[in-house]
Amino acid sequence: MCGIIAYSGNRSATPILLNGLRKLEYRGYDSAGIAIHSDNTIHIYKQEGKVENLVQSLGNYEEDPTHEAGHVGIAHTRWATHGPPTTANAHPHGAGQDGVNRIALVHNGIIENYRDLKLKLEGEGCVFLSDTDSEVLSFLIDSHYKDDLAKAVSAALKEVQGTFGIACLAKAEPHKMVVARRGSPIVIGLGEDETIVASDASAIISHTRQVIYLDDNDVAIIEGGKVDIRTLDARPVKRETSDIDWSEDAAEKGGYDHYMLKEIYEQPTAIRNSIRGRVDLDKGTAVLAGLGLEPREIVDIQRLLIIGCGTSMNAGLVGEYATEDFAGMLSEVEQAAEFRYRNPIVGSKDMVVAISQSGETADTLAAVREAQEKGALVAGLVNVVGSTIARETGRGIYLHAGPEISVASTKAFTCQVSVLLMIALKFARSRRLSREAGIQIAKEIHRLPELVEEVLKQNDHIAKIAEDFTNYTSMFYIGRGYLFPVALEGALKIKEISYIHAEAYHAAELKHGPIALLEESMPVVALLNEGPGKEKTLGNVEECRARKSPVLGVITEGDEDAKANCDWYIEVPKSPQYTATITSTVALQLFSYHVARLKGCPIDQPRNLAKSVTVE
Ligand code: G6P
Repeated sequence: MCGIIAYSGNRSATPILLNGLRKLEYRGYDSAGIAIHSDNTIHIYKQEGKVENLVQSLGNYEEDPTHEAGHVGIAHTRWATHGPPTTANAHPHGAGQDGVNRIALVHNGIIENYRDLKLKLEGEGCVFLSDTDSEVLSFLIDSHYKDDLAKAVSAALKEVQGTFGIACLAKAEPHKMVVARRGSPIVIGLGEDETIVASDASAIISHTRQVIYLDDNDVAIIEGGKVDIRTLDARPVKRETSDIDWSEDAAEKGGYDHYMLKEIYEQPTAIRNSIRGRVDLDKGTAVLAGLGLEPREIVDIQRLLIIGCGTSMNAGLVGEYATEDFAGMLSEVEQAAEFRYRNPIVGSKDMVVAISQSGETADTLAAVREAQEKGALVAGLVNVVGSTIARETGRGIYLHAGPEISVASTKAFTCQVSVLLMIALKFARSRRLSREAGIQIAKEIHRLPELVEEVLKQNDHIAKIAEDFTNYTSMFYIGRGYLFPVALEGALKIKEISYIHAEAYHAAELKHGPIALLEESMPVVALLNEGPGKEKTLGNVEECRARKSPVLGVITEGDEDAKANCDWYIEVPKSPQYTATITSTVALQLFSYHVARLKGCPIDQPRNLAKSVTVE
């Protein structure tokens, strides 16, 4: 999704902004641009396509006096929402008259009432050069501008409906930049006599670890190292400074061809970090202080409602099954956007767990607010520390998976499932589950990192299988019980990165329609791990093969019966199905990765996708 980087200090802004844009590329984008303040002029440069196009269009900027003297600047990677990905629609957007930019702005988010505002501004003589809602905001700020950028920004933002993270410059205030947010993250990095602002910390960490996360409706006025934060009504506010606790290396590829592969391989460590200090092998329970719940309070909770989008929702489904299975407690998972628009039945006896890798997904955030409004206890299960969902829920569990850069989520999923299993265990132990049974589950969770290491050893074998799949255009994934969410996640991964159409079904549902599509050109991936339902799924596999559909089975190590029924198979270590959700998913992540690699797809930045979807 769109990315922002901005700089004010005593160095030349351009190289810092361009490097920042490179760090933001992983979020997905289709055009890029920068604006710098130099010689009392705002200079805007933008280009369609990759950041490298922009860099090339700037020529020898390092020796260009305009760039050398520009010590304040803003920059952006755009992911098209209003209007196609053209240079005119790229940010920054200038506003002024006769080709002179009085204001320049970069914007993440959506201005919902932009049509009304545009009509009004056109009536006042403004001439728009783009189709974007963001340019309207730039002109709106300009229309309020007298001699104080912060005042003009606040006045404009009061008229705006929608979401924004913005950074802007004014021609008449050469050393200043103003940033603000509502619903779209802004992180302020504090350097020595300089400040670097970005929409996420990965673009800041090479400069400083000390950051301030803006709250909604905060406006920050920045000049060199000075940061002055106010509300929209110009009331000064203090925001905590925190430290980024991961290293720059964690956000680099480290010798792997793609971030996705690196992140797949990081899973043993990521899961170890997620469960560290949280699995109590003696008491057979989980220690989850972040939930802030006494056992007595847990007993009072009647239902666990899990919300999320995409991969996070798929992880939530494993959580639902585990909560019912371990704790005998009512649990439901719901797509966050459905939840928020449905007048959901939720109240003080419910605990809502919002799952989000980024902690910024607009639909999940809105669902969190809706659940809070209705009096539910809301906890976040989030990876990005300091993100909006983490802060607004105020209670929850961080994944500690480290930065996830690849758009297709991998380690976040397996860490989310690990944490959900611990939540289910904790709830179960506060209810009916015996200590012995709890210890057994705790041990299984504890051995997850080793199990995942075993799956990663299958990489070459999986890559070989992938060679047979590059020409298929459609696939089915089937599973039962705990393995149905794995089928969903497997199908999501292959469509995200290899662009093969894939559908996941409950194995039993296959006969109720999808079976009509089975033929030689429609392979089926079957989740066949030992445990409840395996024999029945094997029966479904036979139905598929009888109709000439080739079958790739994900099976338990040494299961000869399953092997004999599959055209290809990937073995994962023996474990209960609740942890086989993780091992089997890792196998399918590698499978999707290799198919996409062999097809030459842009694995880390698939077309049309964004890492964090901060618009509805
Ligand atoms: C986007 C990403 C998915 C991700 C989903 C939810 O659609 O492309 O990979 O699963 O958002 O993101 P979240 O950060 O809330 O987990």
